[in-house]
Formats: sequence, structure tokens, C-alpha cells
Amino acid sequence: MTKNLPLYFDYNSTTPLDSRVLEAMIPHMTTYFGNPANQLHAYGWAASLAVQMATEQTAQLINAKPSEIVWNSGATEGNNSVFWGVVKTLKKQNAQKNLNDKIHFITTEIEHASVLKTFEYLKLHENIEYTVLPVDSAGFVSLEQIKSVTKPETKLISVMWVNNEIGTIQPIHDIANFCQSNDIYFHTDATQAIGKIKIDLKNTPIHFLTASSHKMYGPKGIGFLYTRSLNPHIQIENYLSGGGHQNNKRSGTLNVPAIVGAGMACEILNSEFENENKKNKHLQKLFFSELKNEFPNLILNGPTLESGHRSPMNLNVTFPNTPIDLYISKLTGLAFSQGSACHFGETSMSPVLKAVGLTPELASSTLRLSVGRLTTEKDILAAVQIFSAAFKY
Ligand SMILES: Cc1ncc(COP(=O)(O)O)c(C=O)c1O
Repeated sequence: MTKNLPLYFDYNSTTPLDSRVLEAMIPHMTTYFGNPANQLHAYGWAASLAVQMATEQTAQLINAKPSEIVWNSGATEGNNSVFWGVVKTLKKQNAQKNLNDKIHFITTEIEHASVLKTFEYLKLHENIEYTVLPVDSAGFVSLEQIKSVTKPETKLISVMWVNNEIGTIQPIHDIANFCQSNDIYFHTDATQAIGKIKIDLKNTPIHFLTASSHKMYGPKGIGFLYTRSLNPHIQIENYLSGGGHQNNKRSGTLNVPAIVGAGMACEILNSEFENENKKNKHLQKLFFSELKNEFPNLILNGPTLESGHRSPMNLNVTFPNTPIDLYISKLTGLAFSQGSACHFGETSMSPVLKAVGLTPELASSTLRLSVGRLTTEKDILAAVQIFSAAFKY
């Protein structure tokens, strides 16, 4: 990492732009700056060709068809657009049949705020009912739990593929198959899954998948929504109204350089997947074992490293009786995320850590450390030394 900046262990939060991604983007900010919606001249042709290529690169990473990808501003918009789109569609169907059928959704308590807050809003303002399922101590939700709360009026289930804080990989294949055979829309927030686990949408009947490019070494402010087009063909109402871009699926002039960058980021992930995952798993294991050697009481939150159900880049650890806020001035050499944050004198605890059973005291002694493409063994050993110096004075 660059001199004078902290060592970066916050890849779950965002990733640095890969230099190959930047290189691919630059010509689309300079020479080829056209609007792909204008097909009257070479500037527009070059832009639409670039978007087409990026869409193909992205579809390939998840084994989908390019026509199933819609570009948007990121996973927050993607998640909102699915839930709003489904609600509008169901309400329209109800109105056409002169019905007032109830609409029930299911999700889990460890979803991102863009899921939970949208559900809360839809309950308050659109009369949607929903069930929030608890998770076990490692963050898992089971298909049995889902089955037990599914009702005839359940229309949509949303379960994230990989949790952003504790790295839990959910049984998405089983949940998707259950939804498919019960005629329920299935959405997964795959923001933390893309590039970390193999995703094959031809063999997993997911209806909607959302993702964000800045979690995969692409630019910020760009993401995509995958909507299944075959078996079944899913079509929902639009979230945004406007000029009918992207085959009338998401209006707004396309951010071509960002799309090109996102496509290139997907291509790199696809071609380097095995090596990258192997490296991340090695770094994750090294980091945990070095920390555990120094701090025998250290607790790993989330699934075990050996379980095969944890993101290979994520560590979430508690240093018992070590409130991080008290030591923060000694940890300025490191960039990480905290299990609870103090704002204006009030401490708020991570809902995910609460859901897996941590007390506020344990959460305040908890850190998320996530490794990635630029992390080295040397960085990890240096980080462990910083923790030792800070906590063992
Ligand atoms: C699981 C998950 N979903 C959604 C988001 C939101 O992504 P964005 O900020 O790119 O919209 C994030 C970002 O932290 C995330 O980790």
C-alpha cells in the first residue's frame, strides 16, 4: 500500500480499482466519450459497442445471458428496484383482477440496510407484510426455517448470498430451488459473493441477483441487476421512469466508463478466480493463526475457516475485554471496520453481531479484517505487530 496510508484490511467495505480496469476506462472518458443512446455517429457506436462488451464480460462471470443484465448505480439501487418492482407488479395484477390479495415477503435479520429498510418502508407505506428470520450463531438461515414461515401469500424471499460482516455463505441453491417450485420470486444480494464464490445462474434458479462493482476492483457508483429470462421469464415494473434506456428496463444515460470498468473487473475475476481464491484463503488463515498465537482468547465470529461456508476474504474477530474505541489512536496504521461505532456519544452495535449473539461489550471489542488483491503476508505480519503493540502495552 501507499506510503503513509494505513495498511488496508477493509476489502469488504470497498476494493481498490485494479490498474487494468482503470486502463480500460480511460479511453471512454476521453476519446470515446459518446452517448450510447445516440446511434447516428461513430461516438455513439463506439460507446454502445463498449457497453455490449462489458455486459458480455459480466454475464459470463455468472453464467447468465447479456440480455439478463441491467446496469444501475450499485446494489442499493438494485435491491430497491427489485422490491419496488415486485410490489408494483403484484399490485397491478391485483388491480386488473379486482383483487386485494395480501403480499408477504421473507428475509433474514442480517441483510444489508438497503433490504431491511426498504422492507420497513414498504410495510409502512404499501401495506406489505414481511417476516424477518433469525440466524444461528454462525449467521446461517436454513431452508426449514424458510419453509416454516412461508404462506400462500408469500410472494418474494430475499436472502443475501454472502454476509458482508461475518462472511457467512447461505444455502442459496436450496432456497432458490424451493422458491422456483413454489412460484415465489427469489432475490439474492450477491454484492459480497461475486468473485469470491463460483456463481452459475444456469444451474441455480435465482430470479433476481444484485451486485456492485466497487466490491470487485471496479469503479464505485456502478452495479447491475440480473433478472432471469427463461424458466421462468421474469418481468417486473420499472423502478425509474424516463427515457427508456436499456430496453426500457432502467432509464438514465449510461455511465459508459464505469460500465467498461465493471465489465473488465468481471473479466479479471473470471480469469483469475482460482488463484485469487487460493491466495485469499491462505492470507485469511495466516492472519487468523498469527492473531490467535498472539491473543489466545481471540474469538472468530461467523463460520469456521475450514467450513467451506465462509467468504475467503473475511475475518471477524473479537478481542475480549479490549474496547476498540479505547485503543483507536494506537491502531491508526491499520484500516479496518468496527463491530460497533460511537457517533456523537452514542454507541450503535452492528445488527449482524447482535443477531449472532454478541453482547454490546463483545461487539465493542470486535473488528472486521478483510483481505484482498493487494494484501501481502508482510502486511499481515505487520498488522499483527500493530495489534500486539496496541493491546499488550
Ligand atoms: C451486502 C451488501 N449489499 C448492498 C450493499 C450496497 O452496495 P452499494 O453501496 O454499492 O450500493 C453493500 C455495500 O456495503 C453490501 O455489502
